[in-house]
Amino acid sequence: MEIIGTIKDMHDLSRALMSQDKTIGFVPTMGALHDGHLSLVRRSKAENDATVVSIFVNPTQFGPNEDFLRYPREVEKDVDKLSAQGVDTIFIPVEREMYPEGFSASINIGKIGEILCGASRPGHFNGVAAVVAKLFNIVMPDRAYFGQKDFQQTVIINKLVKDLNFSVDIVVCPTIRESDGLAMSSRNSYLNSGERKAAVILFKALKLGEELIVSDGIVNAVLIKEEMRKLIHSEPLAAIDYVEIVTANLKEVEKIKLPVAICLAVKIGKTRLIDNLIIDPNNADICSL
Ligand code: PAF
Repeated sequence: MEIIGTIKDMHDLSRALMSQDKTIGFVPTMGALHDGHLSLVRRSKAENDATVVSIFVNPTQFGPNEDFLRYPREVEKDVDKLSAQGVDTIFIPVEREMYPEGFSASINIGKIGEILCGASRPGHFNGVAAVVAKLFNIVMPDRAYFGQKDFQQTVIINKLVKDLNFSVDIVVCPTIRESDGLAMSSRNSYLNSGERKAAVILFKALKLGEELIVSDGIVNAVLIKEEMRKLIHSEPLAAIDYVEIVTANLKEVEKIKLPVAICLAVKIGKTRLIDNLIIDPNNADICSL
């Protein structure tokens, strides 16, 4: 396994792989790897000749009062986990490599980045889009792997690829959950034991939404969201940021017509967690619709 720190070395490696007709699978991460990330790595390894994982905590996707400095950094542990998975290359640039003196480019992904999580995290998705665009140009992958847990991010990255004509297939992989249903996330490490127990309310609310749609046949989205909100309010440590039901293009739904995605963001104590469920009778992949 090779660890690369510079853009030049990453370019050289990707060009060498391409000249040997080898496909490159890419898993971009901010580190603090959990089984969710490792499931993306396994999928990439199964579908490509070589797998590159990047670890970079991207400052431009954090707001001024967010957790950039606190974000868990566990590079040594991450390297061990990736080595155990048989990853070929880890790209770990320092901040100055990605954003050298004088760097000034930006991407405005548009309205789609200002709703849902974007409403309470202004500029977040522009930062994500820009760093992912840079990483695609640096790694030059054939396929890139993202988790469905970040549903809005996957929609935005698909749009980025389409709008800017990147030659990469985006593969969205299922959310990996703890045994009680909590979606795996690097931010779960912020939760104390009481908060960790309380955090299961996100999954419970999503399952309630699913039941109201699928088993009870309710089509009034306002009613479903109201029931979900009531359930979340019953957990004293939880504070709702949003509960929404949207289409594959993140359009708010009033009358349920499947497929839809139920998305929510909830603060448990000081930790903001997100999750979603895609309700699709045909099991089609809403993320690539
Ligand atoms: O999902 C993440 O971990 C980050 O948003 C990403 C895609 C690695 C960009 O920094």
